[in-house]
Amino acid sequence: MIAGPVIVTHALGSYPVYVEPGALGLLRQVTQELLSGRRLVMIADASVYELYTAGKLGTMPWRGDTLTFPPGEKSKTRESWARLTDDLLNRGFGRDSAVIALGGGITGDLAGFVAATYMRGLPYIQVPTTLLSMLDSSVGGKTGVDTALGKNLVGSFHPPLAVLADPRTLTTLPEREYRSGLAEAVKHGLIADEAYFAWIEDNAGGLMCRDLSTLAHLVRRSIEIKGEVVVDDERESGRRAILNAGHTVAHALEQASGYRIPHGEAVALGLVVESHLAEELGLAPGGLEKRVRLLLTSLSLPTRLSMELDVTQLLGSMGRDKKNRDGRIHFALLARVGEIYRDSGWTTPVASASIISALQVIR
Ligand SMILES: NC(=O)c1ccc[n+]([C@@H]2O[C@H](COP(=O)([O-])OP(=O)(O)OC[C@H]3O[C@@H](n4cnc5c(N)ncnc54)[C@H](O)[C@@H]3O)[C@@H](O)[C@H]2O)c1
Repeated sequence: MIAGPVIVTHALGSYPVYVEPGALGLLRQVTQELLSGRRLVMIADASVYELYTAGKLGTMPWRGDTLTFPPGEKSKTRESWARLTDDLLNRGFGRDSAVIALGGGITGDLAGFVAATYMRGLPYIQVPTTLLSMLDSSVGGKTGVDTALGKNLVGSFHPPLAVLADPRTLTTLPEREYRSGLAEAVKHGLIADEAYFAWIEDNAGGLMCRDLSTLAHLVRRSIEIKGEVVVDDERESGRRAILNAGHTVAHALEQASGYRIPHGEAVALGLVVESHLAEELGLAPGGLEKRVRLLLTSLSLPTRLSMELDVTQLLGSMGRDKKNRDGRIHFALLARVGEIYRDSGWTTPVASASIISALQVIR
């Protein structure tokens, strides 16, 4: 039996996320239902476009207007946004147009930002093709681009009209990209649902061989969790901070390594350090870090650093984290598997000495 779409709710309404093997084939039906009469343009990561619509796999029927951009974070810039926008203007796209964004999180953010700003906003449909973009960036409505001073500094909240997430596309995803998404799913279990965490533990084998029905369940449950968290907090004033579990350390590791540690691996390491911190500070019961390590290892995610990093640099980077208050470094720490520790707020300040000591556990 095919399950119905997951419904993601936001401040202005809601949208369906179709998660099923074969969801790519729903594009025509969904555009007819939601975008009838509009002139459509696909904005796609060039590699994914080549793979899924133009060439090898051809699983996505698309013969309409298309704009592509080179894959990678280097394309998530104001320059790409300007080029895509100018192309749309030159081709005469008007306010009655709509965008289909095909690709990973880069595409969702970039094409979503083009849609958010073109003629003051066009509707768009997201077709995420990486695990990370299915279970993370397709929910929450954030779009935007990077600048020389940092990631995601220019952007807008602009939720899609619908999302088509086809687990079959994950079979062609490079191993490292795939594991990045798994780290975020582990985080979702940790912050909100022990039963889901236990399900991931039980299904690590199916996930490692990318079994389609196991993947469909993973994507659905993670989307539900992220959707529940962001529904009341789209603009990040409170509870949304729990999605940042593991990320205070992860962002510091990414920066200090000059982005040689990929995001998913940094999140895995961050979850280990921050689980240890929660235990050490007496916020979580003993055994948390061990359970987290075991699961990450069974998913082939790292629990130890593969390079030397400077602790002062790591602390400096954490000192610039956007969750910080009153000059103190804040973390979204766990109370146990499935629940974030909460005192006066959703995040907890931690002294530098404790952070330095906790960083030792991934050396
Ligand atoms: N908007 C949000 O809420 C949100 C949340 C998390 C992350 N992000 C952003 O997402 C971006 C990272 O997204 P990502 O990890 O999906 O990266 P990505 O979009 O760059 O995709 C990763 C790589 O995989 C390739 N690829 C994509 N789908 C494929 C497929 N099915 N088969 C083979 N190759 C495929 C792409 O060409 C690319 O080289 C970052 O810029 C991050 O800031 C946004």
